[in-house]
Amino acid sequence: MEPTLDVLLPAGRPPLPPDPSESSLLEMYASPPVRWVRANMVATLDGGATGADGRSGSINGAADHRVFDVLRSLADVILVGAGTARAERYRGPRTPEALLPARRASGLADHPPLAVVTRRGDLPGALLDDEPRPWVFTVPDAPFLGHLRAHLPKDHLHLHPGGVDPRRVLDTLADAGLVHVLCEGGPRLLADLVAADALDELCLTQTPAVVGGDATRVVHGGPWTDPVRTARPAHLLHADGVLIGRWVLRRD
Ligand SMILES: NC(=O)c1ccc[n+]([C@@H]2O[C@H](COP(=O)([O-])OP(=O)(O)OC[C@H]3O[C@@H](n4cnc5c(N)ncnc54)[C@H](OP(=O)(O)O)[C@@H]3O)[C@@H](O)[C@H]2O)c1
Repeated sequence: MEPTLDVLLPAGRPPLPPDPSESSLLEMYASPPVRWVRANMVATLDGGATGADGRSGSINGAADHRVFDVLRSLADVILVGAGTARAERYRGPRTPEALLPARRASGLADHPPLAVVTRRGDLPGALLDDEPRPWVFTVPDAPFLGHLRAHLPKDHLHLHPGGVDPRRVLDTLADAGLVHVLCEGGPRLLADLVAADALDELCLTQTPAVVGGDATRVVHGGPWTDPVRTARPAHLLHADGVLIGRWVLRRD
């Protein structure tokens, strides 16, 4: 049973009971009608982006699954790093039946494609062959380039000499009409997006749990952001101790 979500911010809004069509959440998470890059991540109270199994499935739950599905259903494309695609065994996204009418009403294809960023190119054939066909961004000397070429249509494979440039990735996707980008991580790709000043919004679920260990943070391995980059809350939801925030980083 999906939980009711309390709306803590903005104050005074009624709670959001389970609703297969998710009309209220779709409205609350609508992106502005411009190019927009949002990330959706989950973290524990001690800042871990994974549990002991090295995956995020062990630290998320029913409350953020509601938001996860809504964010996917609003996206033109879902951007992930290859580490996440491999660890979380990604395949072509499938929009839940009840959310299809809203996608179709917005003129979107039933299912958003994946866009995967990789230096090595080591991605499972099952992912590369899945529908909708994924986009892959890599480097000309990727060790698994032949494998990628064998599986992907030419216009879905993009080579960036010297290193994959997140800004060029976003430009290529925008040229194909994919302007509302949902990045589902992982922490290293997110660090690149932050360093490139290309992240407009962070949707962050805080799970009421502590994992210790050497779990990375949701943004990990990039340069310091100095001075700190501040965000403003668009809203904050709650269910069973789980806090689900939408934070806007874009300044204008
Ligand atoms: N808490 C959450 O919300 C959340 C979300 C997503 C993932 N995760 C977890 O995070 C872990 C994966 O972390 P990660 O930081 O390794 O994930 P990642 O950013 O998804 O993957 C890193 C890999 O992606 C590729 N990559 C990223 N940026 C690149 C760039 N600018 N240019 C070229 N390649 C680039 C490289 O792939 P190659 O190795 O193929 O060269 C790199 O090794 C998993 O345990 C996953 O479960 C957590």
